[in-house]
Amino acid sequence: MLHILALFSFLLVSSSHAAVQDFCVADLTAPQGPAGYSCKTPAEVTADDFVYSGLSQPGNTSSLFNAAINTAFVDKFPGLNGLGLSMARADLAPGGVVPMHTHHGASETILIAKGSITAGFISSDNTVYLKTLKEGDIMVFPQGLLHFQVNTGRTQAHFWVSFGSSNPGIQILSNALFSNNLPSELIEKTTFLDDDEVKRLKALLGGSG
Ligand SMILES: *[C@@H]1O[C@H](CO)[C@@H](O)[C@H](O)[C@H]1NC(C)=O
Repeated sequence: MLHILALFSFLLVSSSHAAVQDFCVADLTAPQGPAGYSCKTPAEVTADDFVYSGLSQPGNTSSLFNAAINTAFVDKFPGLNGLGLSMARADLAPGGVVPMHTHHGASETILIAKGSITAGFISSDNTVYLKTLKEGDIMVFPQGLLHFQVNTGRTQAHFWVSFGSSNPGIQILSNALFSNNLPSELIEKTTFLDDDEVKRLKALLGGSG
């Protein structure tokens, strides 16, 4: 009986200790380390640190991708720091695309709010998982795998995104290949694309060399 009481009081004490640090709102004035941002002094934390209004309006889809992605990652939304989650909003004009990309730091779910989206991912054994989604559908994209979304409907489309990291990272495959100065010859060698196509894509996506 005494043992049980002792254990019980130990649990009470340790859970009240755990409650001392409920959150670690990012101090965005200090640099981010591998474990995230350092914590803002609790006395300086306000409700505004836990609210982000940057996803309330559709993004401007007049871009090369005919799409706008707005993220609410920890660098903009400090209350997310250390909590292992974040969100984004995607707006796609008809034919708009979120090009083939990966998030090395998180799995992703999307919820179609408006329109029709064809989405897919490719597993590491190169199997394709492809589906056309309608309003209210959700789809999950496992961490680190190449994936994409295309508005294959006739109207503007909009979906919400959630990530299992406050800092999921994003790398777009075409930008990784064609938006920098990696020599065209090496791109051709390593991708089997021909010179004309590599030059065309570098011009389109801002690369050189
Ligand atoms: C959207 O972006 C395009 C291209 O950058 C620009 O010309 C246009 O004015 C923008 N529209 C709005 C509503 O901001």
